[in-house]
Amino acid sequence: MSIVDSILMHMFGRPQGILGRLGGIILAFTNREFTYSVINLLDIQANDKVLEIGFGPGVGIQLLAKLASAGYIAGIDYSEEMVEQATARNREAIEAGLVDLRQGSVESLPFEDNTFDKALAVNSMQVWSDALVGLREIRRVMKVGGRIALGFTPYSGQSSTGLTEMLTNAGFIETHLIEMDRSFGVLAIKP
Ligand SMILES: C[S@@+](CC[C@H](N)C(=O)[O-])C[C@H]1O[C@@H](n2cnc3c(N)ncnc32)[C@H](O)[C@@H]1O
Repeated sequence: MSIVDSILMHMFGRPQGILGRLGGIILAFTNREFTYSVINLLDIQANDKVLEIGFGPGVGIQLLAKLASAGYIAGIDYSEEMVEQATARNREAIEAGLVDLRQGSVESLPFEDNTFDKALAVNSMQVWSDALVGLREIRRVMKVGGRIALGFTPYSGQSSTGLTEMLTNAGFIETHLIEMDRSFGVLAIKP
């Protein structure tokens, strides 16, 4: 990995240390609108149980807590620094028991099978160590009929080619790609 790639990984990919904290502040500003657009794809209902993987600074979690105000919002992020920032941003909802943010990895989720109505990840899947394993693990914890949305901005470096096939391989159905300006999303259902 080049020095530039290593700095970008410490700032944004898996935020760590001072660079990671700075990266989280930048992400909170730059990805907010796009994160909201991805959440809109999920048609969140007041009593939905929602899982966000790679929530970063937690701006998506804030909106989810407003939309699923009688439900449950869980988040898993690899980075201790992002868990800290997202926790500070969502303290009230955490104390109320509505939001549950944990450090961890998508490849091994600390949730029971068939728990969530909706799941999402924004600009995160491209840095998972094994995207297929991660998607299968998300599928495991989703309810039958649950909906997943993945979103990617151009800065993620993720190509849209082969993405719908990857979701199908992970066991999802009704998979389709949505072009969103220069960004894109993928929606699918757990059968
Ligand atoms: C580029 S940031 C995106 C953050 C946020 N979703 C946004 O759009 O601003 C990628 C996030 O995915 C998290 N992440 C990376 N690998 C992960 C994994 N295997 N499991 C869970 N989270 C992961 C990182 O810690 C980081 O917070």
